[in-house]
Amino acid sequence: MSNSPTQPLADRLLLYLRRQTDAVPVTSLLKRFHIDSDTLNSALKEITGWGYRVKKMRGIVKYVKAPDFLTSTEIQFGLKSRQMGRSAHCYKSVKSTNDLAAHMAEQGAPEGTVVTAEQQTLGRGRLGRTWYSSEGAGIYLSIILRPKFTPDKAPGLSLMTALALADTLSHRCPDEVCIKWPNDLLIAGCKVAGILTELSAERGKINHVVVGVGINVNQRAEDFPQELRAIATSLRRVTKKPSSRAELLCEFLYRFEREYAKYIESGLSSSRKRLKNYSALLGHQVKLLSPSQELEGKAVDIDTDGALVLECRGSRVRISAGEVSVVKQ
Ligand code: BTN
Repeated sequence: MSNSPTQPLADRLLLYLRRQTDAVPVTSLLKRFHIDSDTLNSALKEITGWGYRVKKMRGIVKYVKAPDFLTSTEIQFGLKSRQMGRSAHCYKSVKSTNDLAAHMAEQGAPEGTVVTAEQQTLGRGRLGRTWYSSEGAGIYLSIILRPKFTPDKAPGLSLMTALALADTLSHRCPDEVCIKWPNDLLIAGCKVAGILTELSAERGKINHVVVGVGINVNQRAEDFPQELRAIATSLRRVTKKPSSRAELLCEFLYRFEREYAKYIESGLSSSRKRLKNYSALLGHQVKLLSPSQELEGKAVDIDTDGALVLECRGSRVRISAGEVSVVKQ
């Protein structure tokens, strides 16, 4: 996250130390990295400055503990995906990771590039809303995709992302996570994560897609502004313990990569059953919130294109976009 002259060395040294199960003799580090003792000390100082605990004593160096930061080192260390996250740009504070990722995509950044930030000052949500992005507590992530399919298939990417997110969160709190179509993740009726998919296309061809994901991970109730406390939750509020954001992110990227491959192969057809199982809407009377259309009906299906199917006075209506809320009866 910094750009000092020793950073590249510190990055490599950290990754190496992190992979060792035992302490490493100083002499072997000097030899391996072709450095002298002063340079080693500067690199170790840089690493501890990032919040890592690394001990140097009696001629050995031992890696102790990582801070809960999203750094490219932490991501590379935990990554199991082949492409997603292999190029990771991790910032301390940005306006919006989606804006930065879109800019990088325009400059040619490859598919799978991710942008993360510890904090967003202008985090964006759907429908012109803001995404509250307090420092160090959540995951604020954008992924650059360059799918070969036509733009009409892009909206389904939000649903497949929701599925990867639901699986990742369910791994930590089984049977509690729901997907509120199309792209809100809820636990006990409160929002724990959201997805903002943004498309750049021209003449029927996709240039790139930026999938933005915000996950409330380690916020306590009091970390949310008053107006969000009753409607937002975090993984920590549910599991009653903090989670490693880097581990969560790496697991999500792995699941995301698998879902994306399936989506390219066969759309949502093979995931539809799981999507329906996670649905917070199916079986409920819902209302479409759209300035152009007043619609109320029972949510009965999610079709292979990802559209929500409502039963309205005996006929079935497909909704492919919009905001839906459950009608309290
Ligand atoms: C929503 O629920 O309305 C979508 C929220 C999406 C928030 C994420 S955080 C990372 C990325 N950057 C943004 O500015 N927004 C998305």
